[in-house]
Amino acid sequence: MQEIVSPAKAVHGVVSLPGDKSISHRYGMLAAIAEGTSTITNYSTGADCQSTLGCMAALGTGIERDAENRVVIQGGALREPSGQLDAGNSGSTIRMLSGILAAQPFTSSIGGDESLSRRPMARVIKPLTQMGASIEARENTFPPLTIHGRPLHAIDYSLPVPSAQVKSCVLLAGLFAEGDTIVREPVRTRDHTEIALREFGADITVEKRVITLRAGAQLKGRELFVPGDLSSACFFLVAALLMNDADLVIHGVGLNPTRSALLDYLVSLGAAIKVLDLRQTGGELIGDLRVRASRLHPGSIDGPLTAALIDEIPALAILGAATGGLTVRDASELRIKETDRIATLEANFKRMGVEIETTADGFHVAGGQKFHAAEVDSCGDHRIAMAFAVAALAADGPCAIEGADSAGVSFPEFFVTLREIAK
Ligand code: S3P
Repeated sequence: MQEIVSPAKAVHGVVSLPGDKSISHRYGMLAAIAEGTSTITNYSTGADCQSTLGCMAALGTGIERDAENRVVIQGGALREPSGQLDAGNSGSTIRMLSGILAAQPFTSSIGGDESLSRRPMARVIKPLTQMGASIEARENTFPPLTIHGRPLHAIDYSLPVPSAQVKSCVLLAGLFAEGDTIVREPVRTRDHTEIALREFGADITVEKRVITLRAGAQLKGRELFVPGDLSSACFFLVAALLMNDADLVIHGVGLNPTRSALLDYLVSLGAAIKVLDLRQTGGELIGDLRVRASRLHPGSIDGPLTAALIDEIPALAILGAATGGLTVRDASELRIKETDRIATLEANFKRMGVEIETTADGFHVAGGQKFHAAEVDSCGDHRIAMAFAVAALAADGPCAIEGADSAGVSFPEFFVTLREIAK
């Protein structure tokens, strides 16, 4: 599907966002294995989180969803699925759910779409095998995975790459394992799993970058609210910061400190962003954001900051090219996301006449570049679709976004909301 996005002069308004994708996946999985009923309000409307619910339903979990994105989940023991589980486009679903499947008393198979079938799973196969599971994969890494569940034993695992998905996979497997599971992180990654596990009643402690999950606690169903997705908010923050005339309020955004490096980064560039009404829900911080037009300095993202901003880099590249410039290093993980995001950024920037120099693990875009009207292509990647839709607001004519429907992976309402605020 194609969307045409016209240039805008101003960004104004008040918006709310779909529930956070990362948190929704975790609540969906934990509610399914907890004892009793969970009610999850503001569950993400994105296709990825629907894939998680689809997998849990295929594993025998009772799931009902109403028109207000409230999901009621009857947790309990999982059942052997009758066919292959479908994770769609969702790396979080396949990687995290593998941890649960590895401990079940049955064999299951899980796969996904063409993009997911090219993403590496060795990073979860390795620790799960150490815990006692037996997993087959194409070329030992690519989906579909055939997971022979076994009684697992706990491990002490040092993550070779910073990855919240891998950390979560090991912790979820650890729930079913004999002994105490320890995960050590090279840099702190998003900690929604740790927080959610505690909310559902697990015995978990975190000291600096060492997480210890003690065996034996029975998870209990909960009533939970999912904060708005900060990674989705990023597209609107960038849209506002591209304009000379902008004043936008984004309601109820998740501001977990392991995610909110985005705000510190933007403020360090000179962005006028204020957090209003900071509060807590289910152990997660939530607040309203107000962003106004600003003049920005050049940006640079490397080291631990790269891991903290990995999902936001496509949008930040657009911002950098239009304002002060951006250099990104240590981001080889970008090449194995839904697309090779360094390559898909480069291809679309070229179509818009924007110069970018790429490296194996990053890129540099000079600031103050003009965006020319063009046809750009999401290549089926939701964050590339939304990043270039925002770029189109600053172009010299209307742009066509090919494959715009891929935004639905995390944010089906994106184009409607963008048109409401950008005039
Ligand atoms: C996620 C972790 C990150 C992120 C992804 C969501 C999560 O992936 O890029 O969009 O919910 O745990 P990695 O674990 O591969 O870094």
